[in-house]
Parts: sequence; structure tokens; C-alpha cells
Amino acid sequence: MSFKDKVVYQIYPKSFNCTTNKTHGDLNGVIEKLDYLKELGVEYIWLTPIYPSPMNDNGYDVADYTNINPDFGTMEDFDILVEEANKRGIKLMLDMVFNHTSTDHIWFQKALQGEKKYQDYYIFKDNNNSNTPPTNWTSKFGGNAWEYIETLDKYYLHLFDKTQADLNWENPELREEIYKVANFWLEKGVKGFRLDVINLISKPEKYEDDLIGDGRRFYTDGTKIHQYLKELNENTFGRYNDVITVGEMSSTTLENCIKYSDPKEKELSMTFSFHHLKVDYKDNDKWSLKDFDFLELKDLLSTWQVEMDKNNGYNALFWCNHDQPRAVSRFGNDKKYRLESAKMLASTLHMMKGTPYIYQGEEIGMTNAKYDNIELYSDVESLNYYEILKSQGKTTEETLHILNQRSRDNSRTPVQWNDGLNGGFSEAKPWLSCIKNYKEINAEKSLKDKNSIFYYYKKLIQLRKDYEIISNGSFDRFLENHKSIFGYKRKLNTEELICLNNFYEEEIEIEIEELEKYDILISNYKNTNFKQNIVKLRAYESITLYKK
Ligand code: GLC
Repeated sequence: MSFKDKVVYQIYPKSFNCTTNKTHGDLNGVIEKLDYLKELGVEYIWLTPIYPSPMNDNGYDVADYTNINPDFGTMEDFDILVEEANKRGIKLMLDMVFNHTSTDHIWFQKALQGEKKYQDYYIFKDNNNSNTPPTNWTSKFGGNAWEYIETLDKYYLHLFDKTQADLNWENPELREEIYKVANFWLEKGVKGFRLDVINLISKPEKYEDDLIGDGRRFYTDGTKIHQYLKELNENTFGRYNDVITVGEMSSTTLENCIKYSDPKEKELSMTFSFHHLKVDYKDNDKWSLKDFDFLELKDLLSTWQVEMDKNNGYNALFWCNHDQPRAVSRFGNDKKYRLESAKMLASTLHMMKGTPYIYQGEEIGMTNAKYDNIELYSDVESLNYYEILKSQGKTTEETLHILNQRSRDNSRTPVQWNDGLNGGFSEAKPWLSCIKNYKEINAEKSLKDKNSIFYYYKKLIQLRKDYEIISNGSFDRFLENHKSIFGYKRKLNTEELICLNNFYEEEIEIEIEELEKYDILISNYKNTNFKQNIVKLRAYESITLYKK
């Protein structure tokens, strides 16, 4: 089955669409918008976790893998969703959080009660009267990665929040349980999985302090990771030929991603990597700001395009998700050139090789929330770092300025459906405040305007289906060192495609040989500005040229 000409749409159900006038979205809200998604042309939807959960990390703290969070609906609603989506040619991908469970999960609860069997499902270490955590590793959400349990006199590992206990994949019994979970959903007709931080599941044999880092080098792409993925594949989704998988790979390497996604390795269909989304981290620190390094951004994306392809790997393509700020606010201009820059970013990504992912609201150019008060934030990571940054001596104003750009809440705000109360998301006050610009930026308005970002995405999705060169052509760097244009060429037999994207306001001239031989496949300005062999690119202009 070929999925390489298809596009995935990511839904964060809590913020997508509410049908019961509550604070959060629900599964019926997804069903209600299936026609909207069909109109857009996506063929898969990925739902972030919908399982029972205390929601300390909005569902990434799973308390029960094979049920539905009552806040989102029932199993019956889920079955209807699968069926209704199928009717519209849309398949469902679920988020599988197999690195950790919530501490509310029955396994962890039994472990706490002293059941050895379940203690072995997690990573517990004896205190041995030391009263210091087994290692100095830090949690991704701040603080030490170990939590002490007095009644057991043991520590357990949590690479994320302390209510997200890491699972012990060394234990074959645990692995069997995981296969059962995956198979449960496959039998329900799910056609894809997104595997949460899956490259962190193989922990080291020896637990030691990290004297030069935060511990990640000991458990990222760990020694048994490929073995575990092969076994997971063989025992679950590998038994189907129409199921796709994408692994979220935290701080990974190109070499590992090649292996994760090479079909002959029988691991996963594709990988998300994040290097291109760290180009605005000062000294590699998410909480230190700097302008994005454009040359680095181009180099990273191009290197992954070329190397993955050359070595039989396969990329998932994305700018946005529920953990990232909105791309238009980050790499574009979300005020004067919101329309142009949102479309330019879309072309830059959608003309590459790989499977594009659109995160809810991206298709209408939603912006960062930029809340001006800490009370408005909800995300556990943001709240932790608010305290950490302040304790490092930053003022409230400085700290909020950082959160305005880096907080995960920036992209978790309710989808703006129309210009009504709370952007049409719900009549009740949403769990996270709606961005005030919803009267300007909303889906209803986009659908009425043929020039909208929505229809631009729709066109990009259709082009991928119509032109094999987009899904299958080779990728060549072009204008590699140009300081404001991200250009590249794609080739398939005699066909050629040139994608030119101006990431800045300043007008730039580019020479293209035999320009007259090319047609324009898509561009974000109404007219073009060509003179002989010269293409003039205005602010955030994007042009994709095509020659047979
Ligand atoms: C992934 C998810 C993120 C979550 C974390 C822990 O990175 O995308 O939202 O907090 O894993 O599960």
C-alpha cells in the first residue's frame, strides 16, 4: 500500500471541537468536522491520546490503554468515528504512549502495593539508605528524573512528569502487554500508530550519573531499540499491510532514523525528528531565545531529505504539532504577512519528499497564543519552567516573553471555527483561552475565501496526489548558501520541479535558466514577477516551478 502521496492531519482532541458546551473538545466534535477534513483532502487523522488519564500531561499520562477518556466520549463514539471517517476515505491513527504510563495506571498502583510482578513493569531502584536519587538525570519537564516512594524505600524513573512512570521494556511480560494494547486497537480498525517518544524505551544496563549532560545519551536510541521495534512490528502492526507507523524520535540521529524507517528493517514507516525545530534554541537550550538560524534550518532539512532518501529511510514532514509553537509565528510573520508566510512555509514543506503532517489550525494560519499572564498557561512543562526561569533570576516579564515563544500552550488553544463566542469551539469557557484574533482568523472565514490558507493547503495536498515527482522525485539542494531563499529541486525521469521560498521581507532576484520552459505549479502571490530568466520574489513569496 502506498501512503507516500497522502497527508496526515493531527488532532489534539481536547482543543479541537466541543459538541457539549463543556470546557474541552470530544470525539463527537471530531465526527462533526470530518466533512471539513475531507474537503481539505487529508487521508489520515492522528488523534493524540484519547484514553482515560488524570490529564497531567493532557493524556500522555495514560491510566488505561484500552478505554476512552469519558471526557472525550465512549467506545461507541470511537467506533462511530472510525466508521464515519472510513466513509469519507479517512483512516485513523492513534497515539501509543509506550515509554511510560500514568502513575494512576493499575500496573503502577499494584507496584505501589508491593506486587513484585508489577514493580518489574517499571524501573524501580532501591534507596539503599543513600537518600539520593540513583542518577543525576533530569526530567524533560525539569527537576530530577527519579521520584522516591517512602513505603517501598525505592525510587522510580520518570523521564517526563513525576506522574509518568517509565516502563521496563527489558521485561518480556511487559512487552507482551504492550502488544496486546496495539492489537486491541488494530482489531478495531485503526490504520496507523504514532509512537510517542519511542526511541527512549531501551534503557541502559547500568544506571550512572551523567557528568556532561542531562542523562539522555544513556537512554536515547538505546542499545536494544531496534530489536524492540522489530518485535513490536512483528507481533502487532507488521501483520497488516495497510497500517502506517510514525515514531517520535527525541534527540535522535540520522543513522538511527534511517534504520527505523528502512522498509527492509521492518521497524516503522517513518520518523519525526526535531533537529530543524531547534535552530532558534540558544546553546541548544529551549528556554534561551535567539533568532532562528536560517542557514542551519536549510542545511538540516536538506541533509535529512538527501540522506534519508539515499539510504532508504523515510521522513515524516512537519513544522507544527501540539508541542511546538505555531510555525507562522516562529518562522514567518504572523502580522503583516501572515497569509503569505503561512503559505510559503506550507509549500517549503509540502514540496519535499516524505509524509506531511498538518497540525489542527495550521491550515487556517492560527498563531501563537502569547498569553500575557501566567494564570492563562496550563502546560506542566511551561508551569515548571516558569518557576525554574524565575529562580534563575529572570523577571516575570522576561519569563513570560520566553513562554510566549516557547510554551507548548501556544499551539494548544481551541481551534477557531468561526467568529462566535470562543471562536465557535464551545459556549463554555474553554480549558485554555481562545486567542483573541479568532474574529479575524477562523475556519468559516477561510472556507469563504478562495485565496485563503485553507485552499492553499488543499491545493498542496492535491498536487501530491497528482504529481508523482512530489512524493517520489529526488531532492537536490539549490541556492544552498543563499541568506533568504530556501530553494531546492526535485527530479523524476525528465520531469523537474523547483521550489523557491523567500523566508524574509526583502525582495530578491533569482536567475533560473530557461525559465520559459517551466509552468507555475503553485505560488502564494496572485501574479508573478518574472523578467527574462529572472524571478523576483517579494516578501515571503513562494513559487514552485514545474517542467515536464
Ligand atoms: C511526547 C509528546 C508530548 C508529551 C511527551 C511525554 O513528546 O508529544 O506531548 O508530553 O511525549 O509523553
